[in-house]
Amino acid sequence: MSAPDRIDELRRLIADADHAYYQLDAPSVPDAEYDRWMRELRELEATHPEFVTTDSPTQRVAGKPSSAFAEVRHAVPMLSLNNAFADDEVADFVRRIVEATGESEPAFSVEPKIDGLAITLRYEHGVLVQGATRGDGTTGEDVIANLRTIRAIPLALRVPAGLPVPEVLEVRGEVYMPKAAFERFNERAHAAGEKPLANPRNGAAGSLRQLDSRITAKRPLAFFAYGIGEVQGFGLPATHSVLLKSLAGFGLPLAPEVDVASGLDGVLAYYRRIGVARETLPYDIDGVVYKLDRRDLQEQMGFVARAPRWAIAHKFPAQEEVTSLEGIDVQVGRTGAITPVARLKAVRVAGVVVTNATLHNADQIARLDVRVGDTVVVRRAGDVIPEVARIVPERRPLAADGSPLHPAFVMPTTCPECGSAVERAEGESVMRCTGGLYCPAQRKQALIHFASRRAMDIEGLGERFVEDLVDFGYVQTVADLYRLTLDDLLAMKRRADARDGVTPETVKQGKIATRWAENLLGGIDQSRNTALERLLFALGIRDVGEATAKQLARWFGGLDALIAASVDELLAVPDVGPVVSARIHGFFAEAHNREVIAALRERGVQWLEGPPQRTAEGPLAGKTVVLTGGLSAFSRDEAGAHLEALGAKVAGSVSKKTSLVVAGEAAGSKLDKARELGIEVWDEAGLLDFLRAQGRIA
Ligand code: IVH
Repeated sequence: MSAPDRIDELRRLIADADHAYYQLDAPSVPDAEYDRWMRELRELEATHPEFVTTDSPTQRVAGKPSSAFAEVRHAVPMLSLNNAFADDEVADFVRRIVEATGESEPAFSVEPKIDGLAITLRYEHGVLVQGATRGDGTTGEDVIANLRTIRAIPLALRVPAGLPVPEVLEVRGEVYMPKAAFERFNERAHAAGEKPLANPRNGAAGSLRQLDSRITAKRPLAFFAYGIGEVQGFGLPATHSVLLKSLAGFGLPLAPEVDVASGLDGVLAYYRRIGVARETLPYDIDGVVYKLDRRDLQEQMGFVARAPRWAIAHKFPAQEEVTSLEGIDVQVGRTGAITPVARLKAVRVAGVVVTNATLHNADQIARLDVRVGDTVVVRRAGDVIPEVARIVPERRPLAADGSPLHPAFVMPTTCPECGSAVERAEGESVMRCTGGLYCPAQRKQALIHFASRRAMDIEGLGERFVEDLVDFGYVQTVADLYRLTLDDLLAMKRRADARDGVTPETVKQGKIATRWAENLLGGIDQSRNTALERLLFALGIRDVGEATAKQLARWFGGLDALIAASVDELLAVPDVGPVVSARIHGFFAEAHNREVIAALRERGVQWLEGPPQRTAEGPLAGKTVVLTGGLSAFSRDEAGAHLEALGAKVAGSVSKKTSLVVAGEAAGSKLDKARELGIEVWDEAGLLDFLRAQGRIA
């Protein structure tokens, strides 16, 4: 491509991105790519000055003010900063200052570069009278109504006693949306089915551009001051750092990280310190800013184009990059959680090559509206797993008829590892494989839990041996433990030693290995006789802890009765709510799990069973309750299950032994009889109040 063609293309790309960002408040490309386009365009224009035009994006600082806001001409222009991305660019900057000022170790005001929106606040006689965005640097938008809603911005300066009130003081700084507020905003937006914000900066920009300041007021924005504009009737301090302190003295917020550093070493140390703290700061920053501290020296250095020569922004590596989505895989975790994973065309993000990124879950895929072939924005922050942050909808590949070329992604209904059914509990976004006892992805986890002390208590079977047994293929399911032989264990040990580079086979070590294997086999053998509640806990059904396992064992008496129980019958068990009853039911509904249980039985695992005990315990223990008439909140079976779970015996007919009658809509003869016998009667509302008080329903 020729230089003028590429220049045209870059200008169009940048103009489109500006439009999406500034006018639509919907960024289409990450900053890193935008910055690269700008750099390339600047370089091309520098080598081909004959192609520079006034409408090139390099010739302006930011977007045009929206026609809906009044224009404000800045008394002192709002400038921009030059960027440095590498240490040697910072070294050049410091060297120029040393050369121009003769200071060998110049002092700098060092500040976080807040990722928000630059604004100016004009205080006249101490009162806030005007507030505007930067706009193109000369003319901005009057957004005072919106700025007044930000509580971090004082409506009047707090002038310390004994000091004169400045006639005019223009304060410059950054409006931003704190990370936590941004997260909360998006959670709510998602719940309400509204469009989420792409990032906190867009949250701030979009909020300030609201024509209705009542909307802005609902967005928790904040503000940090970092400089001044026009000043009259106020003696300015000699250094920028002291100036910032006086602003703080007037009640203007300063970023707590603001500091003073000297020379190149000092500023670079600050850069690294803030880089480490970046993740934990409550607001987004995209770099740090170094400003020559002495104001007389600043004046001496002056400006070049629209940026001061006495200051520079040292940017952090971008945390977002664009690439293309080549496929979507589905991974099964150790707990059975099924996670969709994006397979990406390799891209460097913040110094690391990324080829996979999490898509979290089906909800997230729907929210992102992501498809194979899409251009996507990947984000990587610190040690967090890279994720797909959003897509670039304009770059979706389309078929000839304008419809998307690739179909929407659908989550599998069976586990990609083992084919067991996949389920999603009410109110959860995670999908899980139900084949906990069978699924290879969950094997190690299942075995470790099964063998643990409070479960089957298999002595000698620690995590390390579980790993080896599975890795060398001696054990697939928990039932396989019960057919291990001495030869198996010794062979496994030899393979593990060979893998670890241990040379065994001295007679002594051989004996130790044999003793270890015999002990383990003894431990496994001992675990063959256990209690039903231990077995139930050992099965590793999600959310079935020891207490629930105990209740289940007591309630059903035997495993077969539990396996055959319906969701409603499970709901009757104390401690068992709708989510857990669905999980238990789903677990036993999965044939793979039942096969493993059958294999356990076949290989001699036994557990004590007894008669079901469904009485006593709970506030209704010893009471006999009769349900009659129609209920609207749930079926009579469900209501009965709740009452049983609280200790009641539920009966079909009213007699002298009846303690309580719950009478729904159009209750007939049973209600009459209860009245006759003087038995306590509740209506449906009374029942619901009671169940609510007992925490059975919400
Ligand atoms: S000083 C004459 N200090 O970065 C210097 N700017 O690219 C004017 N920013 O428009 C800016 N934190 O939106 C300065 N501590 C800081 C800053 C900061 C964020 C933003 C601001 C400005 C842009 C310059």
